[in-house]
Amino acid sequence: MSGRIPQDFIDELIARADIAEVIGSRVELKKAGREFKGLCPFHSEKTPSFTVVPAKDFYHCFGCGANGSALGFLMAYESLSFVEAVEALADLLGIEVPRETGPAPERHDPVYEVLKEADQLYRARLRESDAAISYLRDRGIDGATAARFAMGYAPDSWDTVLKTLGSSPTRVQALIDAGLVIAADSGRRYDRFRDRLMFPIRDHRGRVIGFGGRLLGEGEPKYLNSPETVAFHKGQALYGLFEARQSRAALNRILIVEGYMDVASLAQHGIPYAVATLGTATTADHLRRLTRLADTLIFCFDGDRAGRQAAWRAMENALAHARGAVTFKFLFLPEGEDPDSMVRAEGAGPFEARLDGAQPLADFLVQELTARTDPNSVDGRARLAELARPLLKRLPEGVYRELLLEQLAATVGLDRVRLEDLLAGAQQPAAPDPAKPRRRPGPAAGRPSLVRQTIALALHYPGIAAQLAPPAGLVEVRQPGIDLLLALLETARERPHISTAGLLERFRNDPNGQHLGKLAAQPPLDDEEAAARVLQDSLNRIVSDHQKNRLADLLARRRSLDPAEQQELNRLLRPADEPPPEAL
Ligand code: GTP
Ligand code: MN
Repeated sequence: MSGRIPQDFIDELIARADIAEVIGSRVELKKAGREFKGLCPFHSEKTPSFTVVPAKDFYHCFGCGANGSALGFLMAYESLSFVEAVEALADLLGIEVPRETGPAPERHDPVYEVLKEADQLYRARLRESDAAISYLRDRGIDGATAARFAMGYAPDSWDTVLKTLGSSPTRVQALIDAGLVIAADSGRRYDRFRDRLMFPIRDHRGRVIGFGGRLLGEGEPKYLNSPETVAFHKGQALYGLFEARQSRAALNRILIVEGYMDVASLAQHGIPYAVATLGTATTADHLRRLTRLADTLIFCFDGDRAGRQAAWRAMENALAHARGAVTFKFLFLPEGEDPDSMVRAEGAGPFEARLDGAQPLADFLVQELTARTDPNSVDGRARLAELARPLLKRLPEGVYRELLLEQLAATVGLDRVRLEDLLAGAQQPAAPDPAKPRRRPGPAAGRPSLVRQTIALALHYPGIAAQLAPPAGLVEVRQPGIDLLLALLETARERPHISTAGLLERFRNDPNGQHLGKLAAQPPLDDEEAAARVLQDSLNRIVSDHQKNRLADLLARRRSLDPAEQQELNRLLRPADEPPPEAL
């Protein structure tokens, strides 16, 4: 089982597996020309935008942007780790997974192991604890709900977990690594969670990754969470998500609340689609996961000032994820209420009616902006524009942005063009900034750079990329993306039969891997001959653009060049009709 899986084997797997079959056995697909189409399993939709491209061993969704190889699909769809997905695919093809000998990758199994055992221990202790049972009863949590969320009880003791689970020095270390036992500087070791109602936090596979613990009585802190560990990352984990996904096949909407108890209580009263962040604002990671699972996300807050402030922060984070397919809404509860108290008081029906009437993000944004400024005065409008500017900057181009601008324009009583001028920073009596140009489309704003386009082409046509003669000067070009482009070309040359998905898999751990997926999902040029020509031209142009810039720069400084630069200048000034040897 140990040892790295050779990369060649992974290429081989992707090439041999029929991606249409792998996906088609899990998602209903219809043939459409050389591709297959179906409803995307990663977000909810009514018209199919999920596309499988067997020729590239690749799938992608125009709706949510999900994309990857058969391996990536298995990881996402079956919630498998990379290694598990490799094994599953190899199994399907009836081949053995070879392993390279060498240092085994670091394993975190002992941490998960002790977390699981602690979870069992806490649950057993809950059954024995009158205090914990009556606490749950007082809070109106029934047995089924306690079981569904696997609630437990950490006894009022310094060493129950330490003594019961820490049978060897390695095990004690695992307990410390898992955040269950604290190792003080003095050398003393003791249980982190004592006399608390325990809420296990589970990952997408249902593995326990950490805990939240609530004091039964009064005291500080009321809630205690696991620290950051190899298994637990507060900025990524969502309490209740695993349970919510267990409860129904398709989540249409997800409610984001603040507390463990809110999640549990809502589920008990018939609203099983709530999740809680763990004492943090919603992060980009949270939003990426949630927007893949449901097309409506509703943030729930207290109606007080703190609640509105938290909502503002959530809105700021949500903007970057606001696209046509996702709806963000905000629900404000009456002061002094939280979802738990609310749903217990009025039941699921009225509570869901509140959800149905939650405020759309654009409404909330416009309302807050106008409440904070006076849109009827010139100064007020300038101030409003100032507040809106950084927010709108986060919004991706698209329908959503257009709608929001329209709405904002209507609310402040300006036409679109005047509003955009205001947002662009011109005509601003409050904060004039002569250095800022009127609109700033930027030289290449919105248009992918030549390097990016070339990367996309190489990705779509690895076979063609392998045949090309990259122009000699390419390695000298310094531009974002060039290293990636060179690496792609090299990989394609080394493995002339690699597919688009094979390349993606190779670059899975590259920081640019994400971008590659998106580029691969863009519609390619359909004509292979044209693609070959354009790819070669693009490479040549990258080099000649670079050389033109260098030449201009060197000429401008020609009195103060060092010897290497002087040589470079001479080279660049060589007559154009004296061809470099590679071009022949
Ligand atoms: P109950 O009093 O049990 O109903 O909890 P609540 O969820 O209504 O309480 P509150 O609104 O105070 O807390 C909401 C969430 O914030 C909790 O679920 C915790 O995740 C977090 N939280 C609250 N108090 C503390 C604390 O003292 N320490 C930490 N780390 N987190 C807390
Ligand atoms: Mn509460």
